[in-house]
Amino acid sequence: MNLAVVGAGYVGLVTAAVFAEMGCRVTVVEINGERVKKLQEGEIPFYEPGLDGLIAKNLQSKNLIFTQNYDKAIPGAEVIFICVGTPTKNGRVDLSFVYEAVKSVARNLKSYAILVIKSTVPPGINSKIEKKMRRFTRAEFDVASVPEFLREGKAVWDTFHPYRVVIGSVKKKVIHKLLQLHRGVPGKRLVCTPASAQLIKYASNAFLPTKISFANSIAVLCDEFGADVEEVMKGVGMDKRIGAEFLGAGLGYGGSCFPKDVAALIHLAKRSKYNFEILKAVEKTNKKQIDYFIGRTVGLCGGEVKGKVLVILGLAFKPDTSDMREARSIYVAERLQNLGAEVRACDPVAIPEAEKLIKGARFFTDPYTALRGADALLLVTEWGEYKTLDFARIKKLMKAPVVVDGRNIYNRKQLVRLGFKYGGVGR
Ligand code: UGA
Repeated sequence: MNLAVVGAGYVGLVTAAVFAEMGCRVTVVEINGERVKKLQEGEIPFYEPGLDGLIAKNLQSKNLIFTQNYDKAIPGAEVIFICVGTPTKNGRVDLSFVYEAVKSVARNLKSYAILVIKSTVPPGINSKIEKKMRRFTRAEFDVASVPEFLREGKAVWDTFHPYRVVIGSVKKKVIHKLLQLHRGVPGKRLVCTPASAQLIKYASNAFLPTKISFANSIAVLCDEFGADVEEVMKGVGMDKRIGAEFLGAGLGYGGSCFPKDVAALIHLAKRSKYNFEILKAVEKTNKKQIDYFIGRTVGLCGGEVKGKVLVILGLAFKPDTSDMREARSIYVAERLQNLGAEVRACDPVAIPEAEKLIKGARFFTDPYTALRGADALLLVTEWGEYKTLDFARIKKLMKAPVVVDGRNIYNRKQLVRLGFKYGGVGR
């Protein structure tokens, strides 16, 4: 099948690479010429495990083509994926990239194609997209919604092994074609209206942060009652109706999706005169986790961090990505600097991005170098390599043996045995 993908961001590149790997001929059109040039040479604009190999392989087999020109991608494509960004400002979704992309697709559409909206867009906008298309093309087309559920850092795996494929269309031939296109991947299928598909995406990206903020609230209570949040949420998650995932307490959620989509859903609800109070509390709780963590750090540092050297381990918003959008590290660093601390910031891959967002810190890729002479180690993002640190060595390097574990990954007993002062979140 011939496919076109509009937008070479996370969603676009992974979608393109995976369908190419499954035997489709995929042309990716991207307006950023610099990015296209690099991609043609197999260079990926961000860190995503497994994606570079997949792209290199399919570039070579010519199943994957990158171009800046819509006229090279659109004519002849049977399915066209719109994978451009939908940023929000105070919760208001900016659809200008989607509409621009749709216009360019329409101008180059010569024969029937299915336009699939993968970008996260407010429910019910497909009729507007159709109208826009009609203004610029005489060719026949259908518009469907197939939301994306991949996680950064696990994007390739998620796309090959989705939990579910949601197909938002009411037209038989469209549903048939899209089911056929996805036959190479496992997971449950749900066929529904486009508006439902779009709302499934927002509801999912709002429900998962709700679980996280709930776990974080329980963590605060655990501290009060002398319970351990890891044990508590393990027990809670054993109930299949609740599920064990996304109950990890810690510094809260960041990234390009949860904060944006929670804000967008609150805003969309408000426009419909509904006050989405649960989600407002989810946002508030997420912000409060930073205060909680800072409070814990100050406490473990003897009530004062002024003039102290504090090392943040993990800057990316989560492990296995270089993405710094809404990363908790930005807020932690800023708060500590405001309290007069000297911040050292450490990450295996995110430093080029982090340098733009965290000012006045020193950056390190090696945690042991960063920890020399430090007053506290602050675990903010749980990269695999930070889980297996040599704490006996670290104890000798640090000025004061303090560990503040923002993701509850360390073994308290072991650290205390080695002579560390340890504080987690809710344990
Ligand atoms: C999220 C969703 O998980 C994907 O299904 C969705 O497709 C994607 O958004 C999107 O809309 O594009 P992602 O933002 O890549 O994926 O990252 P997650 O793995 O979901 O983690 C988000 C944040 O939640 C991270 O900051 C992580 O540290 C935090 N988190 C996660 C917790 O604090 N506790 C947990 O138990 C799990």
